[in-house]
Amino acid sequence: MEDNQLYSLLDSMSLKEKIGQLIQLSGDFFSTANLSIGPVEKLGISPEFVKLAGSALNVVGFENVKHVQDKQMENQPHHIPMLFMSDVIYGYKTIFPIPLGFSSSWNPHLVEKAFECAADEASASGVQVAFAPMIDVVHDARWGRVLESLGEDPFLTSTFAKTMIKGLQNNLPDKKGLVACFKHFAAYGAVEGGREYNSVDLSLSNLFQNYLPPYKAAVDAGAKMAMTSLTTLNGIPSTADKWLLTDILRKRWGFDGTIISDYASIQEIIRHGFAEDNEDAAFKALNAGVDIDMKSPVYANGLEKLVTNGKLDIEKINDAVLRVLRLKNDLGLFENPYFGASSTREKTSLLTSRKRALSRRLAEESIVLLKNKNNALPLSTEENMVLIGPYADNHALNGMWAIHGSKTDTVSILQGIQKFVPNIPTEKGTDLRRDSSLLAGLGFLSEQEIKRMVSSEKENHHNLMQAIKISQKSDTIILTLGEETYEAGEAGSKTNLELPENQIHLINELSKLGKKIILIIIAGRPLALENVVDKVDAILYCWFPGSEGGNAIANLLFGCINPSGRLTMSFPRVSAQEPLYYNHLATGRPQDLAKGRFVSKYIDAPANPLYPFGYGLSYGSVNYLNLKIDKEVFSKDSTIHVTVKLINDSDFDTTEVVQLYIHDKVAEITQPVQRLIDFKKVELKHDQELTVHFNISSNQLTFFDNRGNEKLESGLFDIICGTNGKQHLTTTVRLK
Ligand code: NOJ
Repeated sequence: MEDNQLYSLLDSMSLKEKIGQLIQLSGDFFSTANLSIGPVEKLGISPEFVKLAGSALNVVGFENVKHVQDKQMENQPHHIPMLFMSDVIYGYKTIFPIPLGFSSSWNPHLVEKAFECAADEASASGVQVAFAPMIDVVHDARWGRVLESLGEDPFLTSTFAKTMIKGLQNNLPDKKGLVACFKHFAAYGAVEGGREYNSVDLSLSNLFQNYLPPYKAAVDAGAKMAMTSLTTLNGIPSTADKWLLTDILRKRWGFDGTIISDYASIQEIIRHGFAEDNEDAAFKALNAGVDIDMKSPVYANGLEKLVTNGKLDIEKINDAVLRVLRLKNDLGLFENPYFGASSTREKTSLLTSRKRALSRRLAEESIVLLKNKNNALPLSTEENMVLIGPYADNHALNGMWAIHGSKTDTVSILQGIQKFVPNIPTEKGTDLRRDSSLLAGLGFLSEQEIKRMVSSEKENHHNLMQAIKISQKSDTIILTLGEETYEAGEAGSKTNLELPENQIHLINELSKLGKKIILIIIAGRPLALENVVDKVDAILYCWFPGSEGGNAIANLLFGCINPSGRLTMSFPRVSAQEPLYYNHLATGRPQDLAKGRFVSKYIDAPANPLYPFGYGLSYGSVNYLNLKIDKEVFSKDSTIHVTVKLINDSDFDTTEVVQLYIHDKVAEITQPVQRLIDFKKVELKHDQELTVHFNISSNQLTFFDNRGNEKLESGLFDIICGTNGKQHLTTTVRLK
């Protein structure tokens, strides 16, 4: 459709029809499968508005989509097609590792390919918009949604944001891509205390420097949609924050796409105490810049009156509707309302071996080797080994946000290992968690489900005894532990980041046997492992690794693949160290300044993490030498050339993530002790030497002041290069 046709369509629509375009409802409203990830409340929307609703949430599958699309188009006076949007967060049917995992790959190119695959599968099934990427920077592992994030660093998150958006949108012209809807604007990841849906309070300098860059990167990468956050930012609900949505997102950054609220977040501004009623909330959200109201009755019940009694200029509604129509038109929905979906594509494009191979590769690159005492890994198939733990023979490796994936399509750790050691003895040893009252308190598990999850005391004791019995006969114990699916993801905040008591008991009992123990952890967040780390010889941190998890883990265990994952979030020693992140400001009394009381630490724990940002081991190791810069003083319009020499003197071919940080030594606003500005992932054969090159320009050295202005100040900068978050070489340069 030409632009002028869109305008005449808009002109011919009634006010009700226009409002309909701004309403998004879930499957239950269209008598199809309902996949609502949010509170289930009666919305009180009239059947008339249900018929006019312009988009659907999480209605997937070609037949479902076709059914709803046909019916809606028939119902609507102008037969306008609906948009189908869904949470395709890290895969559709082929599930990739969780984002916190795949960011540990430091491989944006591979992630782009993964998102292309996800878009290919989901578009075949009728999805047109992915509620992804989630690019909220997080400093606190208590927050369950850390699972969906790329970790604590704004530069790395921005880098992945760009490639995830490219991956989703690359194939839009062929109808095999998805519109990217980045979220949650803004700074949802900074909820106080890591508690879900809590408030966010940040200085402007902190907001602009640490939290906004990924969203800005998403706009620059051409994302066509943005989703607001459920939270307040400095006292204002993001969903009604005109400064955020209009002044920053639209005017300062030039975003001309469509803005959608998060699930019921327009209605929730009433609970926040920012609007009196539906009408007030509708006015404030639309006026702030929100085009589509996701799953709330506010636009349906509030907008019409606002226009008829003259409180809201109809042009505001026209602008929002035009953005929605334009998006539909850009996708060609007026000509082909099913977009790329067809039953044939759906049959042929899901879970193909090529997609599985990609998922496996990304899982392999995501897994982080945290400890490897006396080269406990890789294992030889000749070792006499057993596989123990609640994740041994368990297919639940997808994590909470893989809502369209199925664990029946997932390769378990046992299946993966059996390809190397077909007859490996295995025992569960214990449950994932045994606190039934905690499970009951979650409010979504039935008594029956809890009974299935928590074995009786007798059975649990038996499981432990069996595990000990088979382990006694072995030399090596592969022990699989971690978090349950429900423990991380949305509404999965928790205060205790340690493994549960029953799992620790299992480790303690097995460690008494004096065997080599390889600990495999499945989890959606950094856990506090200090109390178990000395009991085991090696730790592979596997996140929720997705459809090919078992194969990926086995390939690493047996050395077919050399681990190369590096952490993108700091790992605490104990839970109460949170929030914990590497790019913090300097204290006047750092822990290493002096011995004794008056330094910045806890009396019962150090201040530093157990495993820092950037950390991760490989089989063999690489040495860093000769960090050099081509000039010691440089001007604002020149570039510094940095080189560092890497030597792999081990017996293993390896892959190294070379990380480049800066520290601005003196500034108007004090600057982080370290800040990532670039990285390179390079391969080195055994005994190979390699020189790695970086260029730094002055725009990588800017910071934001407390009015949100970007500044570049002359002065001294440390240039820090290294690996493992620990081994670093430093040199200093002066900006004139
Ligand atoms: C609420 C979540 O915050 C958001 O990320 C998600 O896209 C929507 N629900 C839709 O499921």
